[in-house]
Amino acid sequence: MADIHDQKVLILDFGSQYTQLIARRIRESRVYCEIHPCTLSLDEVRRFGAQGIVLSGGPSSVYDEGAPLLDAGVFELGVPVLGICYGMQLMTHLLGGTVARGLRREYGLAHLTVDDSRGILAGFRTGDPIPVWMSHGDRIEVLPAGFSALAHSTNSPVAAMAHAEKPFFGVQFHPEVVHTPRGTEIIENFLFDVCGLAPTWTMGSFIEATTRAVREKVGDGTVICALSGGVDSSVVALLLHRALGERLVCIFVDNGVLRKGEAEKVVRTFRDHFHMNLRHVDASDLFLEKLRGVTDPEQKRKIIGNEFIFLFEREALALGGAKFLAQGTLYPDVIESVSFKGPSATIKSHHNVGGLPERMDLTLIEPLRELFKDEAREVGRELGLPEEILERHPFPGPGLAIRVLGEVTRERLAILQEADAIVREEIASDGLQKSVWQAFCVLLPVKTVGVMGDERTYESVVAVRSVNSLDGMTADWSRLPYELLGRISNRIINEVRGVNRVVYDISSKPPATIEWE
Ligand code: XMP
Repeated sequence: MADIHDQKVLILDFGSQYTQLIARRIRESRVYCEIHPCTLSLDEVRRFGAQGIVLSGGPSSVYDEGAPLLDAGVFELGVPVLGICYGMQLMTHLLGGTVARGLRREYGLAHLTVDDSRGILAGFRTGDPIPVWMSHGDRIEVLPAGFSALAHSTNSPVAAMAHAEKPFFGVQFHPEVVHTPRGTEIIENFLFDVCGLAPTWTMGSFIEATTRAVREKVGDGTVICALSGGVDSSVVALLLHRALGERLVCIFVDNGVLRKGEAEKVVRTFRDHFHMNLRHVDASDLFLEKLRGVTDPEQKRKIIGNEFIFLFEREALALGGAKFLAQGTLYPDVIESVSFKGPSATIKSHHNVGGLPERMDLTLIEPLRELFKDEAREVGRELGLPEEILERHPFPGPGLAIRVLGEVTRERLAILQEADAIVREEIASDGLQKSVWQAFCVLLPVKTVGVMGDERTYESVVAVRSVNSLDGMTADWSRLPYELLGRISNRIINEVRGVNRVVYDISSKPPATIEWE
């Protein structure tokens, strides 16, 4: 799609674990920015057309063999540059200064003393100690010509530096992390005072610009979109609906392994409330038939994934003439695939209908590919998406099929749906919905003995799983209040027929995974 940004910052990634945080801080200051690998050529940097460039930190030492470098021509473009940690050392190295191993490595909280409050340190009082987050082994020994120190710390005589005339700055610490409380001020000084940028990147402006760009790209064509009811596909659908109206066709495949009431909610929200052109494909019988007798988790995933693609394709072909396929790709997926460190393993939802665009000759539309998840939520909020969808927990593509351990039957599915609904209600009633990453039930393939009234029972066990996580890659079990766990257990055993025991999963990931299958 057309470039919708007339003002932007380029972040060159040298492999720091904090690079995404730099981008998020800059975006929070309402300036658009993009992360690109440090291997970008000078020509590509020039073509990008940034008003400011940030060199990220990184794990290397500038003198290491194979250390990532940069074409020094970047300093001839007339564009302000801020080097952070490794970025500052590289700037020093490329411009003729000297970097050496420090006497001591400096990790964690340090105190910065400001000696010269100008440029990125405008507004800071000289002499005051400022808490900052350090994470480096090397330090600047000799400044490059034209530079002077703006601040020092116990272990870094040059903790911040600036060129006398040119808009080049470096900081040894990390202004992008929360442990540097005044980091945002430093970043904003760079953005607004040094680069002369304005805080114009808002989700309102994104919606306007994207609407125009989508209309231009699609012309009078039709776009199809796989709507799952999750945050990403819901925001994509709303955004495209705003741009294209009836020419957006959403296909919602009900695979029968959704949570209780989910299918009805999707139809109510998108067809009845937002008046979208929504095709509801009720395929629960078909999916359950295909899953009959299947107990292997990967087999379940394959069946559900393949069947989904088959039905989606059939529906799309029946429409005739659609030329575009919309997907809810987010910025972290884009960065992962071009990362300086190389692509890392991410879990892809089976809903990103892989392979279909080529097979059906469809052009991809990914209107959220520049956004972080929080920004996508903000877009959804501005477009009126209900809070319960915006704050929805991640839900796996294969749905409850991988939470009914063993064979998936209608009866077992119904038990799980009821128990799962109780967990969600109780967590919400304690206001904990937002603080846990995922909370759900798993129906175990074992029966245990219990007693109800005077009767001996022999029924199923439900495991409750609730985890806290930042990205799903690692997770810890949520320390839910005992009171809440007690209510959940009581309600499930009393209200869900076929269950006489509830257990709570206290395993972290790794070594366990979030899902049981
Ligand atoms: P695990 O179980 O691997 O889950 O710790 C990590 C995250 O991924 C989700 N998950 C899936 N999502 N298709 C999906 O779309 C899948 O096959 C799948 N398996 C796990 C899981 O819910 C958690 O958020």
